[in-house]
Amino acid sequence: MPLDLEFVRSHFPALSRSINADQSFFENAGGSFACQQTIDALHAYYVDLKVQPYSEFASSHRAGALMDSARERWAQALGVETREVVFGPSTSMNTYVLAHAFEALLESGHEVIVTNQDHEANTGAIRRAAERVGCTIREWRTDPVTGLLDIDQFESLLSERTGLVTVPHASNIIGQENDVTRISQLAHQVGARVVVDGVSFAPHSIPDVGAIGADVYLFSLYKTYSVHQGLMVVRSGLMTELPNQSHFFNAEVADKRLNPAGPDHAQVACSAAVLDYVETLHHHHGGSVDDDLRTAVASVSGLWRDHEDSLTPSLLAVLAGRDDVRLLGPASLDAVDGHRCPTVAFTPLAMEPADVAHELVQRGVQTSSGHYYAARVLDGLGVDPDRGVVRLSFVHYTSPADVDRAASALLDVLR
Ligand SMILES: Cc1ncc(COP(=O)(O)O)c(C=O)c1O
Repeated sequence: MPLDLEFVRSHFPALSRSINADQSFFENAGGSFACQQTIDALHAYYVDLKVQPYSEFASSHRAGALMDSARERWAQALGVETREVVFGPSTSMNTYVLAHAFEALLESGHEVIVTNQDHEANTGAIRRAAERVGCTIREWRTDPVTGLLDIDQFESLLSERTGLVTVPHASNIIGQENDVTRISQLAHQVGARVVVDGVSFAPHSIPDVGAIGADVYLFSLYKTYSVHQGLMVVRSGLMTELPNQSHFFNAEVADKRLNPAGPDHAQVACSAAVLDYVETLHHHHGGSVDDDLRTAVASVSGLWRDHEDSLTPSLLAVLAGRDDVRLLGPASLDAVDGHRCPTVAFTPLAMEPADVAHELVQRGVQTSSGHYYAARVLDGLGVDPDRGVVRLSFVHYTSPADVDRAASALLDVLR
């Protein structure tokens, strides 16, 4: 059964609000709409449970139980253990804290492999940490024409000196999935740790983090139909090796040692409501109520992906092959192995990106322009980050009519 789009869209109230009337949302890579379950959970928490959690009185006890349950459910969904799940204010903050913790594991003889395809969140703080320790930084650079990372090049950078590798699961500009399972295997063969940024991948397919095998996997829940939190999985061996970054008395508390900010109780407690949405979708599409959460997540991710894949080619077709536009990332779904996420960035050659974005917005296409904190990617492609690109990103609740609107607006504006 294909994705029941009407059913899906009925779970996203933003789609039918007057502020969004006669418009189509293409800024999903910046932040997705929240599903009804997320909104309801936050509302209920703020009404009934907005107290310090983990005391004996009913509201406090319930708040703490919800936080624990959210962490357990996310662990099940991602195929990892509960103690490996860390919530933090954002992915940028999580990588910042992680980078500081990694300083204790890195030595001056180590090499750190970073890419120029990453969002700055998954590279800047690690580069600075490596510099502070005196490690050599090896940059795994994208192809200057395609923006893709070549795994053979990665292998040539790896050595027994490699201590750490950071890589995106998919770039927020190029959209193409990187084979992070293979990258993790190769890195582990030389004893290096691997940090994967899944922020631009998870909204399209909630990953089996356990199967990928990376040491750290991060993504942002607010781009995944949920609350404004970053979720970081730190596989257990590493969790105990990394030094505590929180108060001294939290050193042995797995969900606190890498979050010096302290948890945002309401958002942590409500973070798993999106998984209720996923299960609702699973059952609606014929999935068994006996299926475990990981099974439901995998099957719904497949439905999301098939739906997106049915729409991506028509958007790419509008932009590919034009002489007034440079499309970034693969022009088709099967150009390269792996999933091409529907994050479609391009640089107009005869107009300013900001003007194109403005004209698209005038035509009801909710989008923007900029470098999206991926300045190094653009630089590697010879695109001026200050000029930026226009980016249209969509997800599983996007309809064929939305894509038609974007396509005809693009043809009109670029004409
Ligand atoms: C690919 C990617 N990584 C990391 C981040 C940073 O996430 P956060 O906003 O949660 O810090 C973003 C944000 O746009 C992103 O797109």
